Amino acid sequence: MKMPPEPYRIKSIEPIQLLDRAARDDRLVKAGYNIFGIASRDVFIDLLTDSGTSAMSDRQWAGLMIGDESYAGCRNYEHFIETVGALTGFAHIIPVHQGRVAENLLFSTILDEGDFVVSNTHFDTTRANVEHKGGIAIDLLTPKAKDLKSDFPFKGNIDLDALQKMLADHPGQVKVCVMTVTNNAAGGQPVAMANIKAAYDICGKYNVLLYFDAARFAENAYFIKQRETGYGNKTVREIAREMFTYGDGVLMSAKKDGLANMGGFLALNDTELAGKLTELLILVEGFRTYGGLAGRDLEVVARGLEEVTDEQYLRARTAQVAWLGEKIKELGIGIVEPTGGHAVFIDARTVFPEIPCRQFPGHTLVIELYRQGGIRAVEIGSLMFGHADAETGEFVPAPYELVRLAIPRRVYTESHLAYVVETLDHIRRHKETACGYELVYESKYLRHFTARLAPVAPVNEKLTAQ
Ligand code: F0G
Repeated sequence: MKMPPEPYRIKSIEPIQLLDRAARDDRLVKAGYNIFGIASRDVFIDLLTDSGTSAMSDRQWAGLMIGDESYAGCRNYEHFIETVGALTGFAHIIPVHQGRVAENLLFSTILDEGDFVVSNTHFDTTRANVEHKGGIAIDLLTPKAKDLKSDFPFKGNIDLDALQKMLADHPGQVKVCVMTVTNNAAGGQPVAMANIKAAYDICGKYNVLLYFDAARFAENAYFIKQRETGYGNKTVREIAREMFTYGDGVLMSAKKDGLANMGGFLALNDTELAGKLTELLILVEGFRTYGGLAGRDLEVVARGLEEVTDEQYLRARTAQVAWLGEKIKELGIGIVEPTGGHAVFIDARTVFPEIPCRQFPGHTLVIELYRQGGIRAVEIGSLMFGHADAETGEFVPAPYELVRLAIPRRVYTESHLAYVVETLDHIRRHKETACGYELVYESKYLRHFTARLAPVAPVNEKLTAQ
């Protein structure tokens, strides 16, 4: 399997360095074995997230210089709303500084205590924002996604039968259905146009809003073009535009498919709701023509959104992710298949079957990636989603113990990814030296960001540095 050449060349570089093994061990101890606590200068290959980590184009950098930093009505806002309007077709566009603010504004405005929000899968900040407003977040992922190895092309879909039942059983209590495209928490898998359209029809029947969590809309549209009958001859832009017609609004983190380091927006047609959201925006984020952003940031997002639907770029990007997935599979390590748009999700139980879920085998793999290779990844398993049962207090594990290797856009080359594969091979061959972890400290919300952990058994000192 070959990676197509990237349709761009490197014009500016940022040095990275691999600390020696003793220093990496030291950083892990000091960070309480939490990868979020490690300074980025101490990371060699950073696959923690594809969010806010994109390399900007020369056109975007040039756009920074024409930032108009007036408080109200800057010219970059005009470019921003023109671009977002043309892309999404929505009338009201509200800039915010990142995606979770869009979530917070919407849920603060439309949710009452005890209301439901349904989704193909809520991303963790989305769920936290629903719950913070007293709402109940329900994931209705297609059962076809349960088999991590099946090659079903749209494992990000919502379960339409479950959606229909949920809305019929709880009349008036479900306020919004959030369609996450691609479905990050479910392996970065795409959602089919047919599924989106059917979900929109069901929501319409019960008077429930459908909003897109569109952080990775361009990758989703590219997969529709590749995999769904009837879309092969449409452009990604046309596909995205059609998709947005099957919804009432958009929550966007431009830190992903906006190809920007910061930014986001809400887009919708409902004038009354837009008015309420704007009032709150001014209170917590900034005036309506800048959200929490500088004029130059608005320009960068507008230009990023113009670039991200380029199909040569999307071809190279998705092929890079697929290549990494293929090489990991060749090591005999399980991944979520087929690979999605922005990341390879490793099934950590295939690497450490002997580590019980309560000792976070995904976290073990994350720690070993850093220890052995200076690579930073994120656990999406029982450390992120495991919890104590409300009645019995018993540990309830996450459905899967995944580790996400998220690929920043336009940042790493084939040799960087080959190094990641070599490191995984080393971990696999020396797995007896790894151990499980226990929590020493956890916060109430989003505990994985700030948790501190301790090894359950001392790490074998005989480990050799790579
Ligand atoms: N929705 C999805 C699907 C996301 O992946 C994220 C962020 C957000 C919303 C929130 O956006 O960060 O701009 O506030 N995902 C990052 C990640 C953090 O690593 O996947 P934000």
